Amino acid sequence: MNRRDFITTVAVSGGSAYAAMKALGLLEKPATAQSPSQGGSFQLQRNGRGKRVIILGAGLAGMASAYELGKVGYDCIILEARSRAGGRCWTLRGGDEFTDTLGQTQTVQFAPGLYLNPGPARIPQEHVTLDYCREFGVAVEVKENLNRQEYYYKTKNAGLLSGQKVRAREAITDIRGYISELLAKAINQNAINAPLTTEDKERLVEFLKTYGGLSPDLFYKGSSGRGFINYPSAGLQPGLQSDPYDLSALIQLGFANYEAFESDWQQQMTMLQPVGGIDQIAKAFERKVSQKITFQSEVKEIRKTPNGVSIVYTNSSGTNQQIKGDYCICTIPLPVLTSIPSDFSADMKQAIDNVAALYARAGKGGLQFRRRFWEEDEKIFGGITWTDQDINQIWYPSEGYLSNKGILVGYYQFDDTKVGPLSPRQRIALAVEQGSNIHPQYRNEFENAVTVYWPTIPHNLGGWASYINDARQKYYARLNKRDGNIYLCGEHVSYLTGWMAGALESARLVSSKINTLA
Ligand code: PHE
Repeated sequence: MNRRDFITTVAVSGGSAYAAMKALGLLEKPATAQSPSQGGSFQLQRNGRGKRVIILGAGLAGMASAYELGKVGYDCIILEARSRAGGRCWTLRGGDEFTDTLGQTQTVQFAPGLYLNPGPARIPQEHVTLDYCREFGVAVEVKENLNRQEYYYKTKNAGLLSGQKVRAREAITDIRGYISELLAKAINQNAINAPLTTEDKERLVEFLKTYGGLSPDLFYKGSSGRGFINYPSAGLQPGLQSDPYDLSALIQLGFANYEAFESDWQQQMTMLQPVGGIDQIAKAFERKVSQKITFQSEVKEIRKTPNGVSIVYTNSSGTNQQIKGDYCICTIPLPVLTSIPSDFSADMKQAIDNVAALYARAGKGGLQFRRRFWEEDEKIFGGITWTDQDINQIWYPSEGYLSNKGILVGYYQFDDTKVGPLSPRQRIALAVEQGSNIHPQYRNEFENAVTVYWPTIPHNLGGWASYINDARQKYYARLNKRDGNIYLCGEHVSYLTGWMAGALESARLVSSKINTLA
């Protein structure tokens, strides 16, 4: 039998052609990691004394670059347009005020101790972000990202369960039961052409019985996993299990996309967040590099010189200033960079312009409530409710459990074309109206809110680089290659787009590239 026949035979007999190809070594080997970091400790090797690096932007990418290069003696100067560091690693608290590009100002009215992370808000367990938290002593706590107490609430084409709050645990337990039932019966009727021995088939059926909560005759008739009408209690109250939804109702509800999102390797059940707000990470970096940051310095020109770079920026009194260096690390988000006059070569400019146009139009709103009704009335401690309404999601806080007031993320969209374009007041009204379809308590308990639409946030003009279609193939390599002595750096030049770890890994990579040259 030749290789092709072998693979075809395996595929036809119900086995995995992929596994067979892998066994024969026919699949391309994964590239070995290029990044010098991949988590853990990191240390540049060569001394950089006498070399000046101009870093554009005091977000995580810029500050991490200055921190790493500074450790081995480089003279780093960070130009930051704002009067604060951190970029998107930003936390909003009572008293904070900001104005968007349309001139709309919001003043946060949250009660003391409450906050919203309008940008990054959750950290996967494998991300390098946590290594920096460890290094800097930033306290972290669990961020409940996935909680089966959360709801799926759909309003459009969702069949019998339209407009009904379905607990994730009910939907997931039921669909798992039905799939197990169907598969177990098919195996027992020999209707599955799987390359399994009779013994393995029996084992698989046993597995499905447990996994799906099936009765001895292989029916899914509900299980305690989906919850109760009356919960077990003391004395003569064993509890009354709730009935499963019909299989067809679950199929019509359609929640595979929600569950699939939460099965992504990064969207974990247990994630982490800094205690007290995401900006604790930015502040920790800032403490390390504060001497190197010049605030209120907006970059006006990025130029190449024969041996280095020259940057023109406005200083805090509004006058233009020029600074020269050996290298430039440019962390400016591409939607902003695209309109800064520069000496970037034509192919680099083209890559910047095209990816700039693809930034995620992310938007988020934080709503303050006088009572934590989701905990008190609905027994939800963390997690995310999903809906097909414009608000898309409701996040329950993972901090301040059992206290009085609390903040819900009342909406969060990666591609927010509905809520964000409204005025802040209208966004809030919409979030309260749609949220109250799920939680009628909103009407009595809502107090105040703040909303952030990233495309209209000055110095960002977008959420994160989103390499849709063939953008990764067309432009990514160019963005990753230096242009003269200018290096782009940030989440947009990583495969961790939209994550703080992307910015941090990029900082480590660019720092080592410069350090290897020096
Ligand atoms: N990291 C962001 C979040 O978790 C944005 C993101 C979403 C990035 C989904 C990748 C995938 O919300």
